[in-house]
Amino acid sequence: MMLIAVATAVAQENRANYRVVPLPDRIDGIKDADFKLKGTTLVDYPTGNRDMERNAAMLSLYVEDLTGMHLSTRPVNTGNNHDCISLQLDPKMAGDEDYRITVTSRSVIIAGKTPAGVFYGIQTLRKSIPVVGKVDLVLLPAAQVAGSPRFGYRGMHLDCSRHFFSVETVKRYIDIMALHGMNRLHWHLTDDQGWRIEIKKYPRLAEVGGWRNGTTLGHNSPVNDGIRYGGYYTQEEIKEIVRYAADRYITIIPEIDMPGHMVAALTAYPELGCTGGPYEVWGMWGVAEDILCVGKDETLQFVNNVLDEVIQLFPGEYIHIGGDESPRVRWQECPRCQQRIVDLGLKATDHQSVEALLQGWFTTQVQQYLSEHGRRMIGWDELLGCNVDTTATIMSWRGAEPGSQGAMQGHDVIMSPVDPLYFDYYQTSKTWNEPTAFGGCNTLKKVYDFDPVADDLPADKRQHILGAQANVWTEYITCEPQIQYQVLPRMAALAEVQWLHPEDKDYQDFKKRLPHLVDIYKLYNWTYRAKSLIVESEDQEK
Ligand code: ACM
Ligand code: ZN
Repeated sequence: MMLIAVATAVAQENRANYRVVPLPDRIDGIKDADFKLKGTTLVDYPTGNRDMERNAAMLSLYVEDLTGMHLSTRPVNTGNNHDCISLQLDPKMAGDEDYRITVTSRSVIIAGKTPAGVFYGIQTLRKSIPVVGKVDLVLLPAAQVAGSPRFGYRGMHLDCSRHFFSVETVKRYIDIMALHGMNRLHWHLTDDQGWRIEIKKYPRLAEVGGWRNGTTLGHNSPVNDGIRYGGYYTQEEIKEIVRYAADRYITIIPEIDMPGHMVAALTAYPELGCTGGPYEVWGMWGVAEDILCVGKDETLQFVNNVLDEVIQLFPGEYIHIGGDESPRVRWQECPRCQQRIVDLGLKATDHQSVEALLQGWFTTQVQQYLSEHGRRMIGWDELLGCNVDTTATIMSWRGAEPGSQGAMQGHDVIMSPVDPLYFDYYQTSKTWNEPTAFGGCNTLKKVYDFDPVADDLPADKRQHILGAQANVWTEYITCEPQIQYQVLPRMAALAEVQWLHPEDKDYQDFKKRLPHLVDIYKLYNWTYRAKSLIVESEDQEK
């Protein structure tokens, strides 16, 4: 009797559960026996399709991580074999990233219109498998499971300027994104505290601008650690990371922040500033008054030359040019910038200074340059105050309202409002046992409840909201476990914001599904905020 009871318990533990995060749109049971996933199960993919071959290899690795079983992959010309997981392309499916998993006792078919859709099906199947150590059998209940993302832009951001993170750390961040069904990595590569991308035409950017002499402790305390700090990614490393991301259907959007947040570049090339310097790569946090001098033609040439190399490295459609937090005090004092204003005939309006219009002119030059090279520009929502045209995509950070206003004007918009999508903010109001964070309080529930499309946004403007992204600024984040702690499990909540329609979201249900996802975090030794799992509301935290 005892033995039978134990055997049953084990068998139940090894049963897949398709109610993963993000929740599939449909899970329809099929009257059939379970599919038996065993070490002899093959992963079939269409012969000659490199993307599907890689998908198959990745599924095999995931299953091995989860169960210890090593599934062999097999190129096939027809998809209908027994005892296999068959990866298939189905041109009749609706959306490029939609997936459909059909499990019968005979086989598992993971279908997508594109290899990306198949990849999301693979992620769903992966997440449905229990994490119970080495096993030689997992039962997959017969069912049809389907999912389709609500938004095409499902992003995470990572600031590698304030602190610098290794290629391995960035790759793991990409792995975490893939697990959560995300597809855009906004990579913040330049700022006052460090220039992190090798530019061959301007080697001092990385060699000089990539290093600071010390870092303030905490929130701009009077104590500076005096430790030289820095690093940068070579172009070869960047290509490797771009490839790694692309293999996981993640497009990297590089950000070269301009005209502000440029002290590292000015330290390397002081002639690009209004005063000519000297400048020093910052070891403190905040907004610097020294920005690019846009009165000089050389500055525009510099920006174009840098972008030439950036464009070569990043094949995605979008380049992010920042545009946030650019004080204009230097421009007000600079004869060249003032001359530019005169030459352009800029005239202040009730809401726009001539210097704001000068930023608009500069940004438009950059935008045109990108457009001539087949690229589109993203900038922070400050650009809405600078007269840029509606081909600029706006990233809304100072709340969601600027984004909604941008959408009303006809801009495409990505929502990443500080509240609740800044993941460098605290996850609780009880902060004393938390690692130092920027401030604020963006709980798991607040993230979950966020809707990127405001209720009052008219129906004909809604398509301008491309999606949502969480931002991870790293002033106070110094190491990889701390990055992971800040993003996990909030990324799980964001994944449901990005994939599910509001009527399908249910926080209590999400909380029930979350522990299994966390089992996968544990499997990979990722750090996460365990307290977010156990408390129903942050007020209950002691
Ligand atoms: C920003 O947080 N300065 C975009
Ligand atoms: Zn100037």
